Amino acid sequence: MSSISKEQVRSALMQVLHPEVEKDLISLDMVQDLIIQEKYIAFTLELPSKNDALADLLKDQATQAIQKFVDAEAIVDITTGINISVAKRMEGEPSGEPSAGETQQTEASSEATQGLLPTVKHVIAVASGKGGVGKSTVASNLAVSLAKLGLQVGLMDADIYGPSVPIMFDVHEKPTITTQRKLEPILKHGVHLVSMGFLIDPDQAMIWRGPMVTSAVKQFMQDVAWPELDVMVLDLPPGTGDIQLTIVQSVPLRGAVIVSTPQPVALEDARKGIAMFDKVRVPILGLVENMAWFSPPDHPESKYYIFGKQGARQLAQQQQVPFLGEIPLVEEIRKAGDAGTPVSIKDPTSAQGQAFRTMAERVLQSIEALEATGEGQEEMSISFHE
Ligand SMILES: Nc1ncnc2c1ncn2[C@@H]1O[C@H](COP(=O)(O)OP(=O)(O)OP(=O)(O)O)[C@@H](O)[C@H]1O
Ligand SMILES: [Mg+2]
Repeated sequence: MSSISKEQVRSALMQVLHPEVEKDLISLDMVQDLIIQEKYIAFTLELPSKNDALADLLKDQATQAIQKFVDAEAIVDITTGINISVAKRMEGEPSGEPSAGETQQTEASSEATQGLLPTVKHVIAVASGKGGVGKSTVASNLAVSLAKLGLQVGLMDADIYGPSVPIMFDVHEKPTITTQRKLEPILKHGVHLVSMGFLIDPDQAMIWRGPMVTSAVKQFMQDVAWPELDVMVLDLPPGTGDIQLTIVQSVPLRGAVIVSTPQPVALEDARKGIAMFDKVRVPILGLVENMAWFSPPDHPESKYYIFGKQGARQLAQQQQVPFLGEIPLVEEIRKAGDAGTPVSIKDPTSAQGQAFRTMAERVLQSIEALEATGEGQEEMSISFHE
């Protein structure tokens, strides 16, 4: 049985032209992550912006071309994505990429470590192993607290499947595009914000394969007109898999903040998170214990250790990384997040507001300590494969 080759599919797709610029899908580098399994052919079609009519048209034409030139029985599965570099190529800029989709990952990551984010002094990632432990809450409050300490701060929400910045900062408008075709971050509560959620519909992203997600995140970083920033906080998606690994290897990270609740399953995952950063030699700025205790509003002096007591503090000791503090479990934190004004802005003098401020100060101390020793950032060019 003769199998279908990638070259055959690519040749067929060269017959499909973008209607506005009369260039084909391959020379515009719009076809990514091509997978062929017998008669099943899947790829991602990257468009310069969300445009359902164009997506439908090109999907139809691509399917017809494959069935006409390659195999009449081919089953063609096309996912659409957005990549604003396609717009540059439409204007005639060369893609600068080799034709084979597989080699693009490595190309992009080495390129990224050199010139990516030149206006940002320190990029720090907020991560956890386990989902739902409060990464985005910590990232948001950390960003606004650092801004209140007088720093120029950015927050990049890299969680493509479950972006939080649109809700936690109540920004839903699309960012504007500069004359250099870069996205303008949105300034809110003193923080320059960018979220994958501004551009991509999470429902659509749910069906993206891993490489698509990581290349979207990388692309995204490069295509933002970041102002001069002291710190950029990167809110990572939960977990310690390939997506997180590729993201943390693509950006020149100064260090990582790990969030955990005191409960054993979360701590176990936090340990994996620390191990992941160790492997790629990104320093740990410290561990935050979120949901450390619950104090009922009518008995603020009582503390209930719902998820266990001091687990993250002990893990920090064991792992010999800084402990960045305890954040209580309080309804106000959740409410403020849902209402789009982080509690550090809404109620800075409350116990929780102060807890976040202390955390931010400690993060800053950790950054300064690392800066003094020169650790982090320049070591990012190594690659790691499990
Ligand atoms: N200390 C806290 N007190 C009360 N609610 C909290 C606290 N920390 C987080 N939450 C709430 O818990 C929920 C999950 O938090 P958040 O979205 O920050 O977690 P996450 O780790 O980013 O989740 P994901 O893994 O899905 O990205 C949110 O509704 C948030 O408001
Ligand atoms: Mg989150």
